[in-house]
Amino acid sequence: MSEPVIKCENVYKIFGANAEKMLKDSNGNVDAKTFQENGCIVGVNNASFEVSKGEMLVVMGLSGVNGASGLIQSGIIAMANPGECILMPRNVHISVIKACAMQNIIPIFFDIEFSLETGHYRPISTKWLKKVFQNIAFKKKKIVGVILVSPYYQGYASDLEPLIRICHQKNLPVLVDEAHGSYTRIN
Ligand SMILES: Cc1ncc(COP(=O)(O)O)c(C=O)c1O
Repeated sequence: MSEPVIKCENVYKIFGANAEKMLKDSNGNVDAKTFQENGCIVGVNNASFEVSKGEMLVVMGLSGVNGASGLIQSGIIAMANPGECILMPRNVHISVIKACAMQNIIPIFFDIEFSLETGHYRPISTKWLKKVFQNIAFKKKKIVGVILVSPYYQGYASDLEPLIRICHQKNLPVLVDEAHGSYTRIN
């Protein structure tokens, strides 16, 4: 197995006035029920992940708990150093923007196709992404990764594999925010 290009170890996101102390006292062995009984809400409990070249990492979480946000932000911080750029569609979640602002990571936004028939953005197609890539000045900017969102808030999902292949051809790791996938019915 090749060296991971993104690595996060033992990520916790716990809300509540006592969260920090309780985490310390528990020595990392967080029992969500006990924490809840003591006024804390556990969003992320000891999550670790590695992404090697060519692999896909999907982050899923039920909105409102801040679980997906915490993991997305960890992934972004692992993906890019301050001053480096990440390519992303304009419909990324605010947690992505906040991570970039906090870490001085430069988001390079690309437009997504809009459907006048539905009034929604269309899922990103390979044709669209190729066109986006053609218009990016890769030589002038230090782009170190790509973020994709699928499915969208309205439920549209992209065919991710060919999109990721395009990114990998440029040696760019991809983080897919599938937070809305929790609500998707798969037949
Ligand atoms: C696309 C997307 N990503 C991430 C999140 C954040 O999810 P959470 O509230 O679990 O942090 C949301 C929340 O609505 C979202 O819509």
